[in-house]
Amino acid sequence: MLSEKLKQAREIDQKGIEFISSDERPAFHVTGGIGWINDPNGFSIYKGEYHLFFQYHPYSTHWGPMHWGHVKTKDFVKWEFLPVALAPDTDFDDEGCFSGSAIEMPDGRQLLMYTGVSHEMPEDGIEQVIQQQCIAIGDGINYEKYKGNPVLTANDLPKDGSKFDFRDPKIWRDGDDYYAVVGNRGPDNTGNILLFTSKDGFAWSFVTILDSSHNEYGRMWECPDFFALDGKYMLMTSPQEMAADGLKFHAGFGVICLVGDYDKTNCRFKREDVLAVDYGLDFYAPQTLETEDGRRIMIAWMQNWTNVNTRVDGVRIFGEMTLPRELHYRDGMLIQNPVREIESYRKHETVCKNVVVKEETELDQIKGRIMDMTVTVRPKDVKNYGTFILKIGKDERHETVIKYIPKENLFKIDRSKSALRYDIVHRRKFYVSDHEGEIKLRVIMDKHSIELFINDGEQAASMMLYDNGIADGISFEAESEVYVDVEKYDLVIS
Ligand code: FRU
Repeated sequence: MLSEKLKQAREIDQKGIEFISSDERPAFHVTGGIGWINDPNGFSIYKGEYHLFFQYHPYSTHWGPMHWGHVKTKDFVKWEFLPVALAPDTDFDDEGCFSGSAIEMPDGRQLLMYTGVSHEMPEDGIEQVIQQQCIAIGDGINYEKYKGNPVLTANDLPKDGSKFDFRDPKIWRDGDDYYAVVGNRGPDNTGNILLFTSKDGFAWSFVTILDSSHNEYGRMWECPDFFALDGKYMLMTSPQEMAADGLKFHAGFGVICLVGDYDKTNCRFKREDVLAVDYGLDFYAPQTLETEDGRRIMIAWMQNWTNVNTRVDGVRIFGEMTLPRELHYRDGMLIQNPVREIESYRKHETVCKNVVVKEETELDQIKGRIMDMTVTVRPKDVKNYGTFILKIGKDERHETVIKYIPKENLFKIDRSKSALRYDIVHRRKFYVSDHEGEIKLRVIMDKHSIELFINDGEQAASMMLYDNGIADGISFEAESEVYVDVEKYDLVIS
């Protein structure tokens, strides 16, 4: 039986899918049918297809009582809308169905584990909003909330764990056992990642605190994920209230990857390193899955909470996911590259080799907006190697500027001329590693976004653009002469 709230949400979502034309949508990035989306949820394989749910408020382009929207894909590029999966329609989630995850059960059903936000009326009569973990079970389209909800409550928390910030379960199975990591605000406001276990996916118990921020890497840790990658374990989380640290971590909402070893028998994670995940302007709450051919794929919300209250006039959809990325861990770095499936959508190849560039130059046939372009730059004279500038999304009024300053190994991005008419954060800079002066940039561009992959994925930087979505000029410029190779394709998603 569908609740009235779910029916209503499905109706408005369906209207959005029908009436908002493809011109208003990105070509290959996930959005909601209509209205607002944030975090990816339940990114997982179900019956041989990849499912993605997301935090969804179809009623406006602003955050509101959270539903779960739903899409699926066979190749991470072409997505199919499915009906809204969850609405905030029970006593334990009437303030919202917050983030969570999904898994295929041995009996063929799909289990969703999410955070139910609801009211609690303590004896003093002052109402409080609390967070508990809940379950819904279904067939890939319709889900029923589990009768035993909530399955994790304040009683399951370690000492002094906050019941007000206890959210975003990420579930996995290991052998016969289920596990979930959940974010929690511990004493002193610090972020903790809690580990829970279950024999059947329904009855859960607390195991340990897997790791803690100790107020060093932000405060509350949201949206954790935990997985093995190339011989190490990665505990990824999205901290709130990060303090900036050099050029590695910027202030505010960020995403970090704690790298370490994991002793499975005793459930102990030993952290060895902390990495930044994306150096751009818009990237939060990533979630990963493992494909049948063993690839670890990550998708994230291509937004930053700090910027969400400003809009282009008249938009009917707000929020997009990144293009999914393949992850590796190599030489102490989290290597990220666009899913290889995107390559089947490359059309109209244009290649230039060893072009000498100094003054701002546009190259014959090198322009485009919905594209996959790789630019490799080599100095003519390493000793005398000045700034290299790539401009994309260019017309008379717009441009997004990418600068490489080899003397300092510094990289800068600036979208201030392709952006909202608000003074939000438009620029970032960060260090890149030195490959004897050569730098390789892969640019994945859609109507309203740029995702940059630097030096074969050693670093990634994502940002939303708010210009006309059409400007397609590209120029190259260098302080001292450089050789430039360009390989450019349009991405045609038919
Ligand atoms: C992260 C987050 C999650 C929460 C969700 C609510 O972006 O704050 O912690 O579950 O968004 O929409």
